[in-house]
Amino acid sequence: MLASNQKTVLVIDFGGQYAHLITRRIREIGVYSELNVWNDVSEVKLSQKNLGALILSGGPSSVYDEGAPTLSKNLLDSLIAKKIPILGICYGHQLLAYLYGGKVEPSTSREYGKVKLKVSDRSDLLKGLGKEELVWMSHGDQVVSLPSGFERIASTEICPNAAYRSKKNGIYSVQFHPEVRHTIHGMMILRNFILNICKLSPTWNPLNFIEATVQKVKTQVNGGRVVMGVSGGVDSTVAAELIHKAIGDNLHCIFVDTGLLRQNETDQVKETFTKQLKFENFYFVDASELFLSKLKGIDDAEKKRQVIGSTFIEVFESKAKELKDKFGEFEFLGQGTIYPDRIESAQASKASSRIKSHHNVVLPEWIHLKLVEPIKDLYKDEVRVVAEKIGIPDEITWRQPFPGPGLAVRCPGEVTMEKLEMLRGADAIVREEIKNAGLEKKLWQAFAAILPVKTVGVMGDHRTYQYAVAIRAVESEDAMTANFSKLPWDLLERMALRIVDEVKGVNRVLYDVTDKPPATIELE
Ligand code: XMP
Repeated sequence: MLASNQKTVLVIDFGGQYAHLITRRIREIGVYSELNVWNDVSEVKLSQKNLGALILSGGPSSVYDEGAPTLSKNLLDSLIAKKIPILGICYGHQLLAYLYGGKVEPSTSREYGKVKLKVSDRSDLLKGLGKEELVWMSHGDQVVSLPSGFERIASTEICPNAAYRSKKNGIYSVQFHPEVRHTIHGMMILRNFILNICKLSPTWNPLNFIEATVQKVKTQVNGGRVVMGVSGGVDSTVAAELIHKAIGDNLHCIFVDTGLLRQNETDQVKETFTKQLKFENFYFVDASELFLSKLKGIDDAEKKRQVIGSTFIEVFESKAKELKDKFGEFEFLGQGTIYPDRIESAQASKASSRIKSHHNVVLPEWIHLKLVEPIKDLYKDEVRVVAEKIGIPDEITWRQPFPGPGLAVRCPGEVTMEKLEMLRGADAIVREEIKNAGLEKKLWQAFAAILPVKTVGVMGDHRTYQYAVAIRAVESEDAMTANFSKLPWDLLERMALRIVDEVKGVNRVLYDVTDKPPATIELE
């Protein structure tokens, strides 16, 4: 949600892994930025945005590949005519040079990792940098000759035109990645571009978004009624509270206990919504028995996700119908969709291989309601800033991501009440120990999973034959990739001792030391 004079920086996604990161960095500078896939850009679309700059991101292709991602030159020319500056990065750097008549060729040796950059012009894009800088490179092709009228502003040993510009056209470009932290002065380069070259004002801030959003929801809903499912996660809680601020008791929130939640979670969510946030119309539905009965006998991971997804919709729909009969028709559905959800589900629909179905971003067929999505333009860290400002309790604001299908995806094989109870006990210990060790904010997620095997142990003088629990703790920026965390041995030891001691039915604890990829974060 932007004030009318606020400009947008559009980042074109050519399939590179850092495209999101560029958008986030621009927002860190204080200017609103969006990501757009290259083949969904048109002059009309651009004209609807109050465009302040265009950034062409990196990507895995070569400009000479058949069907290589591109943008029409007419479109770029129209921006140049309107004096909207353009920044090329990596693939974008090669594409701009290629489109304007330069030459791109495979380089003699691939430059990957930290590389020394020799800066020859420090007057605009590279202002404030040293004569030599460390930058992050990852490229096979490179620009060997520049289009006429373009000038080199930096080079590396291998790459002659590592940065160039065409002042007349407002085109600036770098072969390396200023958005990654390994490029020591990357933020300086982005700031030079955004604030000095584009002359954009750093007025974007997730906080000035609150008032405008509440106002917008009020106008959109215009006295109508909104129904919404909440999970206790930060996204749906912040979205619900913003809608609540706008329309008060015209918002009806449904919280479904699937029986697949963590220890004490149900009570905590109820308490937050009814006592702390004082929602007038908050409904709690205990469907745990229904979910367990539907999951009986199913051990296939995808099947479990599908059953949970459809049962959730069934329960939600039945409660919503009951509310409709009591209060009248709902015209709107509230959702806690955030920016990466929209981008990733748009990309996932194009991807060929389905790794996991994430049920919670797919709207059920029967819902023909109009959507109210107050945080659909925010990143997770921005949602947390808003959460703190509007008084969402810390336990929710800083809660780890928790998957829609809940503990079921941490319980490979058939889900049973017995296993869920063990899992809840072990998971609570893992999270408590992580919190006591002060590691909560360092980790993306830390949790326990229960494996579908029993192993032999010995307790006192007795042989035991019980379940094995796995601890998973990962560090990640965005869950697309993750590294297992090298937790201190004594912390792992304490968790293992406590789990075996306090959780009945478990006699062995394992630590998951796989990264994503090749593993995923959740076990299913
Ligand atoms: P994976 O297991 O795919 O998980 O590496 C990546 C991140 O997504 C979370 N996750 C989900 N979140 N609904 C969600 O809202 C789901 O169905 C779902 N499955 C996985 C997971 O916890 C991790 O943070």
